[in-house]
Amino acid sequence: MRILSGIQPSGIPHLGNYFGMMRQAVEMQRKGETFLFIADYHSLTTLPDPEQLRKNTLGVALDFLALGLDVEKTVFFRQSEVPQVTELMWILSPYTTVGLLERAHSYKDKLAHGFVPNHGLFSYPVLMAADILLYQANLVPVGKDQKQHLEITRDIALRFNRERGEIFTIPEEYIPESVAVVPGTDGQKMSKSYNNTIPIFAPEKVLRKAVMNIVTDCTPMEEPKDPEKCNVIALYKLVASPEEVEAMKSRYRAGNYGYGHAKQALFERLWEYFAPMRARRAELEQNLDYVRQVLTRGAERASVVAEVTMAKVRQAVGLR
Ligand code: ADP
Ligand code: TRP
Repeated sequence: MRILSGIQPSGIPHLGNYFGMMRQAVEMQRKGETFLFIADYHSLTTLPDPEQLRKNTLGVALDFLALGLDVEKTVFFRQSEVPQVTELMWILSPYTTVGLLERAHSYKDKLAHGFVPNHGLFSYPVLMAADILLYQANLVPVGKDQKQHLEITRDIALRFNRERGEIFTIPEEYIPESVAVVPGTDGQKMSKSYNNTIPIFAPEKVLRKAVMNIVTDCTPMEEPKDPEKCNVIALYKLVASPEEVEAMKSRYRAGNYGYGHAKQALFERLWEYFAPMRARRAELEQNLDYVRQVLTRGAERASVVAEVTMAKVRQAVGLR
């Protein structure tokens, strides 16, 4: 079984990325051959500053390696180092109707957030389909918001296979029921585009500040509080034991326990939860040549698989 996922280097990875996708991807390494890549071509759709893009790409690589990516088991690479993916995207384009892309929620969301529609934003799902089909992935661990992109990928692959022969593996998304959408500090979905993130590896001061900024209601300290409607508890659940969560809920109901206390408890658990990974990240930061080498070697391994698929695809459409 081949497992594949990608993450855009469009900012600093946050708790939503970790609990929504990165953790599952790291755990899945034990189940099969894994391909993970940094989707830098996708990031170009939102016109990032070039220097920032380079910096974020290295940052995502460090984060993933620190979080437990095993470079022996996993082919880890930068998307743009295997440019065949753009060739495949073009070949898939005539098998993709405009109507299919017009229905994409992520495209509509981007426009709702004020992005000027450009062709890259519009055809984003075709490039993502190419990512998945190029490597003949069976299973794609992603967060819930990516489910529709997998449906689009299957639509394109099924149509291509019907018209040009059975070339592509039909992939499935992997979204465990237990994985919730992680709320940001303002209660909306945590997202790099909404300025509401808690980074996985922020320095202590920055992390504390982000946690203290979590929006709560204005119930006074002495009064009982509803634990079911609180962003602090929603995040605490991700890093504390079930007993600790129950204890915090009882304190909420009893009163005389303020949101400041809950935030302090959340901060401590978060700091502790990621401590071993933070230490590993600090080591890797001293060895950036090693990180670059991992990505180059990953791209070499990925290219071999990509070329096998491309030879079949070019033949099937009459390009060779
Ligand atoms: P962002 O919205 O911050 O730009 P990405 O689109 O780069 O995040 O998402 C990378 C991965 O992390 C995707 O698989 C996505 O589904 C997952 N993800 C992002 N934000 C969240 C969240 N708040 N909760 C759960 N999963 C998330
Ligand atoms: N669109 C994904 C996201 O924003 C990133 C991505 C690009 C991806 N290509 C992929 C994820 C292929 C899984 C498989 O999170």
